Amino acid sequence: MKTPLIDPFQRAISYLRVSVTDRCDFRCVYCMSENMTFLPKKELLTLEELDRLCSTFIGLGVEKLRITGGEPLVRRGIMTFFDAMTRHLGSGALRELTLTTNGSQLGRFADDLYAAGVRRVNVSLDTLDDQKFADITRWGRLPQVLKGIDAAQNAGLRVKINAVALKGFNEDELFNIQDWCAARDMDLTFIEVMPMGDIGNEDRLDQYWKLTDLRARLTERFTVTDLPESTGGPARYVRLEETGQKIGFITPLSHNFCESCNRVRITCTGEIYTCLGQEGHSDLRAPLRSSPDDAVLEQAIRNAIALKPKGHDFDYSRQDVSGRVSRHMSHTGG
Ligand code: GTP
Ligand code: 5AD
Ligand code: SF4
Repeated sequence: MKTPLIDPFQRAISYLRVSVTDRCDFRCVYCMSENMTFLPKKELLTLEELDRLCSTFIGLGVEKLRITGGEPLVRRGIMTFFDAMTRHLGSGALRELTLTTNGSQLGRFADDLYAAGVRRVNVSLDTLDDQKFADITRWGRLPQVLKGIDAAQNAGLRVKINAVALKGFNEDELFNIQDWCAARDMDLTFIEVMPMGDIGNEDRLDQYWKLTDLRARLTERFTVTDLPESTGGPARYVRLEETGQKIGFITPLSHNFCESCNRVRITCTGEIYTCLGQEGHSDLRAPLRSSPDDAVLEQAIRNAIALKPKGHDFDYSRQDVSGRVSRHMSHTGG
């Protein structure tokens, strides 16, 4: 057994998020600019390199692997990669293989994902209104995503909806979305909007809907009970007693959760970001390519984790935005 990955704050790293492409078929306004320039394909790690990188992390104690993007399902040949990861589920080394998706391609891939051992998918969806959906995603169309969700459920995948809580945008849909998820037996998680990318400070502050306020609105209609359980991700969960459904809150702004952080992120070019909310990163592609011996790569991973910061510095208090990071969320896949 190898020495596990422990960061300078004694946090064990057991969760790896891997972005397999920076491309996306949507252009969500809070995530990308309309005219994104994407990386040339030759910069990307190949599917074989992604396999080697993930397998090395799994050998070092990673038990939860989440595939992200951009939109992970637009990466050409991505099912080959999922199929390759199945062996780590079979061996018991990996507890969960999963992905975060905009849902647009689930119609095509849901059955294959299930066959590869995926049991749960997180689908990003902020509104159930066709026009608002088209506005916020710029390029997306709601019916396609709804079909994707149907396909996922029919394939036996458990679906969790991720909604970014946005003031003046989906506030009025809170009970609609909650109700829809209850009727379809889907979990639901709300996320506070983070200051990433090139959106102006004022716009961010206008958008910010504190999840403590959202929770207070839920208590107007429901008995809300805190749950001790965790998926190993950052959400804290409650149950609405009247419907029995689970609702998660991801609160980087109103309640920092960095103390229990267990994760690192890899971009599609093989950079490792040890914190979503900081700029610091290291290159793993060069060590990966420099030698077929995994020891070189392992050492580079350990060196990067030794630099993991204590947490993010996002802050909206005093009517100002601080701690922002300039890269877009799509760079590291959230
Ligand atoms: P579960 O396994 O279902 O718990 O998923 P997860 O919350 O780990 O993953 P998901 O991709 O659904 O994450 C939802 C969103 O939460 C991300 O896209 C980010 O916006 C945010 N998030 C996830 N991890 C972090 C983190 O470490 N720090 C911050 N600030 N936000 C995070
Ligand atoms: N703040 C919070 N969440 C965001 N996401 C994208 N950009 C932001 C942001 N600035 C979410 C997406 C998706 C996940 C990958 O991250 O909606 O659910
Ligand atoms: Fe971990 Fe950084 Fe996210 Fe905090 S902001 S939970 S330290 S990745």
